[in-house]
Amino acid sequence: MSAKIIGSGHYLPPKILSNLDLEKLVDTSDEWISSRTGIKNRRMVENENTSDLAAKAALKALEDANISKEMIDLVIVATITPDEIFPSVAAMVQQKLGLNEVFAMDVNAACTGFVYALETAVALLKQPRYNKALVIGAEVLTKVIDFTDRNTCILFGDGAGAFILESSEINQFLAFDLHSKGQTDKTLGLEFYPLKESFKTPQTKTPFMYMNGRDVFKFAVDIIPKTILQCLENAQLKISDLDYVVAHQANQRILNKAAKDLNLEINQFISTLEDTGNTSAASIPIAFDIAKKDGRIQKGHKVLMVGFGGGLTWGGTIVEI
Ligand code: UT7
Repeated sequence: MSAKIIGSGHYLPPKILSNLDLEKLVDTSDEWISSRTGIKNRRMVENENTSDLAAKAALKALEDANISKEMIDLVIVATITPDEIFPSVAAMVQQKLGLNEVFAMDVNAACTGFVYALETAVALLKQPRYNKALVIGAEVLTKVIDFTDRNTCILFGDGAGAFILESSEINQFLAFDLHSKGQTDKTLGLEFYPLKESFKTPQTKTPFMYMNGRDVFKFAVDIIPKTILQCLENAQLKISDLDYVVAHQANQRILNKAAKDLNLEINQFISTLEDTGNTSAASIPIAFDIAKKDGRIQKGHKVLMVGFGGGLTWGGTIVEI
């Protein structure tokens, strides 16, 4: 037994934070952000947290799969911005949706988290006791962003995407390839999770994400083509067999470079960057769902999902829809 995707959904909070809004906060311009990243707008929560976004995306995926919530027996949430260190966002989703008292856990592999969560779910669905998995990528990155740091605040946004996977004799997942390489040089991370105000002391370190943008950029343009080629080799496929690539949405220039290096058309790389910015672990399922719903990704297509990010982590999977 293996697994197939039977539904997907996504949720973006309604509030839009535009490049023009950011011009009022830091020394930047719409022109700089658009030309260097492809981003125009990103979403920002007002009164919601990560588990709210996750639950809303999950409801849409359940509706898309046309199954009842009682059928879910496994919940995995990929996130680096949980509501709290524990309980997990997955347990919060179990409670918020009123699911049965099922297996629920979070996965932290930064922006590669959703691909890690997919491989975990596919492996667990091989067990006879699991039949349907809810796999979610959800982030509220705006709570860990320093809105005085123009290096990071222009990039990130909030959102969530979800898949329903079902145990199946038809194996849709043709390959996985996942990796990590721990860093000591502060390339990308978040030292302290934001504490509640009352626990803050004068010694509390700044709880904001840090990033060496140039290093991450170099890492990304190197690792995306390598991961795509490795996934193709694992699945014994050729580059021409691919219909679409759903890569982690970090920067349009990263997608352009990967498409050029692999001799793929840029429109084969799904991009939501203009409207969503970088939503870390949520970016792949959001982009997939948008392209599925607007009819680009269709039954029979071979779609490669590829992520990279803090850890460092990276990885991909090929799915035959
Ligand atoms: O999920 C993974 C997480 N992160 C990423 O994937 C990020 C990957 N990296 C990137 O996307 C790009 O490196 C950035 C968009 C972050 C930066 O673009 P860049 O083309 O690499 O710019 P840079 O860091 O080389 O900076 C070029 C110039 C600098 O000025 P000087 O030193 O040339 O005078 C920066 O100070 O642009 C300046 N700059 C800005 N100017 C206006 C940096 N940020 C901004 C800004 N607005 N927001």
